[in-house]
Amino acid sequence: MTPNDVTASDMTADDMAHLHALCMQTPSPWGADGFRATLCSPGVSAICHAHGFALLRTVLDEAELLTIAVHPDHQKQGIGARLLDRVHQAARSNGAVTCFLEVAAGNLPATRLYLSVGYAEIARRTAYFMAPDGHRQDALVMRKSLVVAAQPSGYPQQ
Ligand SMILES: CC(C)(COP(=O)(O)OP(=O)(O)OC[C@H]1O[C@@H](n2cnc3c(N)ncnc32)[C@H](O)[C@@H]1OP(=O)(O)O)[C@@H](O)C(=O)NCCC(=O)NCCS
Repeated sequence: MTPNDVTASDMTADDMAHLHALCMQTPSPWGADGFRATLCSPGVSAICHAHGFALLRTVLDEAELLTIAVHPDHQKQGIGARLLDRVHQAARSNGAVTCFLEVAAGNLPATRLYLSVGYAEIARRTAYFMAPDGHRQDALVMRKSLVVAAQPSGYPQQ
């Protein structure tokens, strides 16, 4: 795998916990046991890259981005956007028509990433997350439609 490949290949729960600890502040990073349990849960898929990963859960026609992380040395290089593109492809393949996520309102890199790929804020949960300094942060609930609009053919229908 070259560093730019985004694959569905395995990354261990320990690898994910290590990367999460380097990246996440609010909500708190997950431990390896949390990743192990999540990876065994129904409907959960992992999308991996040499420098990042994303976890997705699909239930019927709804998907949820559970988490995404890119190594701090490799952020702002388009990896997060590529991971999300693969997340959305996988969710569509699983039958989802909508993808939801929650993000801390103060997490500007993540919020901007989500807005840039078509998510919109649909709700705010007040004081939902605990920040490392003990202050509470609101969570934004965001949603993206996964339905791809049909392209006009350019030719009149027969
Ligand atoms: C959020 C995160 C996954 C983004 O990954 P990334 O690989 O750096 O993102 P990309 O390079 O694909 O950026 C795509 C777009 O997101 C936005 N963005 C990403 N990082 C940003 C930053 N530091 N500041 C502002 N906007 C940012 C920009 O709109 C960017 O587009 P641009 O480069 O054309 O300006 C990464 O910052 C990360 O791992 N953060 C810590 C973990 C985390 O907070 N996960 C989300 C939990 S909900």
